[in-house]
Amino acid sequence: MKKTLKLLTISGIACMMAFLTSCEKKYYVAPPPPDPTVPVSYEMDMQPFFDAKCIDCHNGGGVPLDLTSPGSYENLLDPSKDYIDIDTPENSSLYTKIIPGGSMESFATQVDRDMTLLWIEQGAKDN
Ligand code: HEC
Repeated sequence: MKKTLKLLTISGIACMMAFLTSCEKKYYVAPPPPDPTVPVSYEMDMQPFFDAKCIDCHNGGGVPLDLTSPGSYENLLDPSKDYIDIDTPENSSLYTKIIPGGSMESFATQVDRDMTLLWIEQGAKDN
């Protein structure tokens, strides 16, 4: 009887630990915000963001601003538009559209927004 109790306790603890660790794995860990000391790459960071979240609509069809590659960079830097404002990066419409309150808000995460602002602050380079 004592042995059974002991066994039950041990297997109980084992089950509990298995449960806790499986639980832990289910928590979503958001990617860290971009490190401001690391350059944001247009090719490796920005274009993949557009490819994943924007080009379903921004593909040269009826929606303004074609974000497909190649050509997206030139379109963003169009001097007749305000997509990128190097002097006041937070006024860039590419940024103001995707932050809360902007009409593209739902398509971008906070990490996407931080990355976009950082890319503009670093000079909006075609890197
Ligand atoms: C479901 C379709 C759809 C998706 C996905 C989408 N957009 Fe848009 N976007 C639109 C439409 C439609 C407009 C024009 C109306 C407006 O400005 O809200 C627009 C307008 C814009 C404009 C202003 C263009 C101009 O010249 O006025 C920017 C900047 C923009 N979107 C950025 C983005 C970014 C960045 C993403 C990805 C994170 C994105 N959009 C995802 C449909 C979309």
